Amino acid sequence: VSVSERRCPITTAGLGGSLTTTADVAPWDYFDRVREAGDVVWDEGLNAWLVSSYELVKDMTRRDHDLWQAPFVPDPEHPPLGLPLDEWTDFIGYGSALTMSMSEGPLHDHQHGWWMKTFSSRVMGVWRDTLIRPIVHERIDSFVARGTAELCTEFADLVAPRVVASVMDLPQDDDFLRRLSGLSHQRIVLKQRQAERELDPALWQASLAATREMHDLLSPYIDARRSGEGDDLISLVWRDPAAVFGTDDYTEQDVVALAESVWDGATGTTMYTTCNGLYLLLTDPSLRDDLRAGGEPAVANFVEEALRLYGPVMFRPRIAKRDTALGGTAIRAGDKVIAVIGAANRDPARYDRPAAVDLGRPSPRNHFGFYQGARSCPGQGLARVELEEIVTAVIDRMPDVRIDADAPPPRYRELLMRRWEPLNVAFTPGEPGHDSASPR
Ligand code: HEM
Repeated sequence: VSVSERRCPITTAGLGGSLTTTADVAPWDYFDRVREAGDVVWDEGLNAWLVSSYELVKDMTRRDHDLWQAPFVPDPEHPPLGLPLDEWTDFIGYGSALTMSMSEGPLHDHQHGWWMKTFSSRVMGVWRDTLIRPIVHERIDSFVARGTAELCTEFADLVAPRVVASVMDLPQDDDFLRRLSGLSHQRIVLKQRQAERELDPALWQASLAATREMHDLLSPYIDARRSGEGDDLISLVWRDPAAVFGTDDYTEQDVVALAESVWDGATGTTMYTTCNGLYLLLTDPSLRDDLRAGGEPAVANFVEEALRLYGPVMFRPRIAKRDTALGGTAIRAGDKVIAVIGAANRDPARYDRPAAVDLGRPSPRNHFGFYQGARSCPGQGLARVELEEIVTAVIDRMPDVRIDADAPPPRYRELLMRRWEPLNVAFTPGEPGHDSASPR
């Protein structure tokens, strides 16, 4: 029995259409209309419920473990995109059934705990000074004397991949990093279609080919760390894989897949958030004065506001494991429910002046930029430190940076993972060779 046959829900039909109509346009008016129509609204196009209030998305995150099945966990009754399980594992899990986003229960939680510890604020405090800050300044050195730059491709797109390559001791040349990032992006194109009903076969083949190529590029480096003697992240995994996976039943493929999921999880998301945070700084110059005056705490709060307002992940799908209710709407086992993070993060019932940057918000980390609950982003410690270093370096070294009015303006692009691009900027030229070892 279809949803429309069994009840008469509020639908997106009268609100401007499916969530997918917001691709490449600012979605905020649409989110307002959806939120005003009801906290839980049926999207005919996506065959899913849209949940847009802070309170109900919070409810979803609290019950993530026992009530909701995550989108990449294979379910024989509802095969993702109708694909055979082994093909799904090859794509989503990089050929490993242990990959965290595919796993559930104790195996998932064990790995999640390992990642949280590995990227904890204590460890990140060391990486901040020794690894992240020098990379940020080196990128700025490459264009600072010119007085103009395009900050997405010349800066954001290279900092996060360089950081991850450095953490995993991979080659760090721009061609290698851009090649890998291109493959990750091809995979994201398919992931954002997962919200739709049908799979485009050509897109599927391209995504599988990108996954294979990523595997071919990365596996020689993963294999070379097998002795576990290095001080990089992959050697750390090789030293005791059972401690990472929570089981002795692992293979070499599981280690390769873990490296691939670190790469995929840590690059695109951070690149996109970098662009969105810089966009906020470029469009409100007074923020820079506030950040200079407020120092490290203000920068940290600014990063949270950037994640709240323009966290790149706009929504996350789940499937109900059993019948339940959300804000008075009956949800049946098997229904697809989409937490619209972008809407919940600007819910006026939760946030005063929801569309404004407020560096003094109470509990600034209480947003869904990293989702929340059992499947919240386990790399958030790393992302935060990178973003803080990026913001600090930009206001320090390009104090008068502004959008270049003579170049193409930024647009808020894509659908599931969104960013402002291009970011063509002008500024007073500076000197390369900044001493990144100096304290902030
Ligand atoms: C600003 C940067 C980042 C943003 C906005 C972001 C956002 C998110 C979000 C919203 C989720 C939840 C997905 C869901 O539950 O459906 C997630 C999960 C995940 N993220 Fe991040 N992330 C970022 C950086 C990172 C980094 C640096 C890493 C790796 C070091 C990483 C690795 C992962 C992994 C492996 C998951 C899956 C967790 C699970 O299945 O339990 N992310 N991220």
